[in-house]
Amino acid sequence: MNDNIRKIINKKNKSKIVCLTAYSKNIAEILDSHLDIVLVGDSLGSVVYNYNTTRKVNLKMMIEHTKSVRMGVKKSLLIIDLPYNTYRNKSEALKNSKKAIKETRCDAVKIEGGNRVKDIVSHLVKNKIPVLGHIGLTPQTVKGKFKSKGKTEAEKKKLIKDALELEKSGAFGIVLECVHSDISKKITNLIQIPTIGIGSSVHCDGQVLVTDDILGLTNAKIKFVKKYTNIKKMINSAVLKFKQDVKSKKYPTKKYSY
Ligand code: KIV
Repeated sequence: MNDNIRKIINKKNKSKIVCLTAYSKNIAEILDSHLDIVLVGDSLGSVVYNYNTTRKVNLKMMIEHTKSVRMGVKKSLLIIDLPYNTYRNKSEALKNSKKAIKETRCDAVKIEGGNRVKDIVSHLVKNKIPVLGHIGLTPQTVKGKFKSKGKTEAEKKKLIKDALELEKSGAFGIVLECVHSDISKKITNLIQIPTIGIGSSVHCDGQVLVTDDILGLTNAKIKFVKKYTNIKKMINSAVLKFKQDVKSKKYPTKKYSY
């Protein structure tokens, strides 16, 4: 197991794991000094390409964006999401994970699913591919509306089984998406690998959010998204100033001319 991954596991019960998404170099560079993990999520589809589903994201897109992010990430663990239909069986998953890691030099892959993908996870891990699991709300396979998970007894049982099976299969951590507080607490206490929550309460070992959401770049109105700034406003005022300078010939002055 690579040292960076060992470091993430060792944070469990000691220090919260901080993770955000990135899709390109400039943002990744800013995130890198602050975070433990930078994730190139397939949220790329909605955030950058305005797709209504992550299912439209393909491996080529993920690889190109991860290559860009790689240029900005020097110290954090860099993880790529394997997109929909790229890990339907063990050999497809291994072939695509190897390709993604080779071409992007990222540290690990993330795949969605619990018990359903346990054999794929163990096959990847046996072949030295570090895997971050992802259970709860799994956007690649969601049917109908996005809903929180872990309300009913059946859902609770399934989530616990999913988490235990992923741990047994060798995943080094698990993203819990939109999982109710009591069950994310239970899972976090039950397994030895860290849980990274998105909309899954403070009980998780770490937290992940979509960077564009916390910066106020998207119009996300999601219960768990906290906007930490309003970059849209800042960009608007800079662009307006530039426009005014151009119109009034205040830009470019001699200083900005050859
Ligand atoms: O696609 C994504 O960005 C994700 C996280 C937000 C967990 O899967």
